[in-house]
Amino acid sequence: MARTTIGVLGATGYTGRLIVEELRRLREPVVVAARNPDKLRHVAEATGFESLVADVADATSLDRLTGQCRVLINTAGPFIDYGEPVVRAAIANGCHYVDTTGEQPFMKAMLAHDALAQERGVAVVSALAFEIAVGDCAAAVAGAGFREISSVHLTYATRFHASQGTQRTIVRMLQTAGYAYERGAWVETPPASVVRTVDFPPPIGRVTAMSFPSAEVITIPRHLPVREVRAFIAVPAPVAHTVQWMSGPLTAALRGPLGRLATRAIGTDTGGPTESTRHADTFAILVEVRGIRQGAASVERLLVKGRDPYGLTATIAAYGAQRMTDAGYDRRGVLAPAAAFDPRALLDDLASAGVSYERLGAAAATA
Ligand SMILES: NC(=O)c1ccc[n+]([C@@H]2O[C@H](COP(=O)([O-])OP(=O)(O)OC[C@H]3O[C@@H](n4cnc5c(N)ncnc54)[C@H](OP(=O)(O)O)[C@@H]3O)[C@@H](O)[C@H]2O)c1
Repeated sequence: MARTTIGVLGATGYTGRLIVEELRRLREPVVVAARNPDKLRHVAEATGFESLVADVADATSLDRLTGQCRVLINTAGPFIDYGEPVVRAAIANGCHYVDTTGEQPFMKAMLAHDALAQERGVAVVSALAFEIAVGDCAAAVAGAGFREISSVHLTYATRFHASQGTQRTIVRMLQTAGYAYERGAWVETPPASVVRTVDFPPPIGRVTAMSFPSAEVITIPRHLPVREVRAFIAVPAPVAHTVQWMSGPLTAALRGPLGRLATRAIGTDTGGPTESTRHADTFAILVEVRGIRQGAASVERLLVKGRDPYGLTATIAAYGAQRMTDAGYDRRGVLAPAAAFDPRALLDDLASAGVSYERLGAAAATA
């Protein structure tokens, strides 16, 4: 395929604009796309890129977009509502697909397109973003060399300001089913079904962490021989216990008028943290792998640290799109980030964006 253009759908959004800027810095040929022509014209004028009005509700516009791109980066979420027609169009038109989702139900549903994507020679890679690509690739690095893995646990400790688009997606996710991976199967599990303490190295130290429906639960079993995957997020202990106690009624309320109220309060705009605020946001992800390595029970702990999750999302999505336009790129099917790219090379590439990772000593986490 000679096409080299990278398409960005959602180019007028908070994350889309950052991705477009990153691709411009990398001097890639780009076509910017979104549904609102006025907002799109501003982006096209500011960047000099070609533009194309495309709406996920208009299949012809998606065919036109994916028909002229080698790779499409999709940032139009919530993906559970808007994502599937875009994946279908990309596969039908022989265009590699990546997106910035972190939504479990969407990613689980997209596995149904694996056979067709393989047949068409197309790679479909969801969550090529801060969340989930970093944790997924870290788990692949930590889990290399294990013959059997009894569990992979990831714990996020973040200081993070969410864009309006992310806030709308979080409300949408709280209205849907969340999953853990238990005994080799995905099982519906409410948030905070497990609360535990986790020991990070200083300065973070010991934290209370509640389980939450992060999509490494969907990606990791696709590339590691694992029986259990759970993701946790560090929160104050009273929050963890309140969510544990309230998750049933809260989910039910969000499916009704409370959900509509929350979405209205967030608004329909594409705002987000200022540049200085997002640069100051930090994260640490602790990945713990337990299993059998070289015939013996073993634990591997990897700590990933970085900053600016939205800026990092732009770096990761652009990295993936660039690799997919490389002449030798031949991966196909619905793939986890760690299966679509070399996971260590991807993490190493993020060093320039301030990401570092290190192996830690024996596990100190307690259930
Ligand atoms: N996993 C991660 O780490 C991560 C990081 C960043 C973002 N995200 C996710 O990425 C998504 C985008 O976030 P954001 O903050 O950039 O949101 P946003 O600012 O609201 O941007 C959404 C973009 O999608 C476009 N769009 C919406 N509906 C569309 C439709 N029907 N057809 C075509 N385009 C449509 C919008 O275009 P219009 O101008 O036409 O409305 C806008 O350009 C969210 O789901 C967020 O959770 C995840």
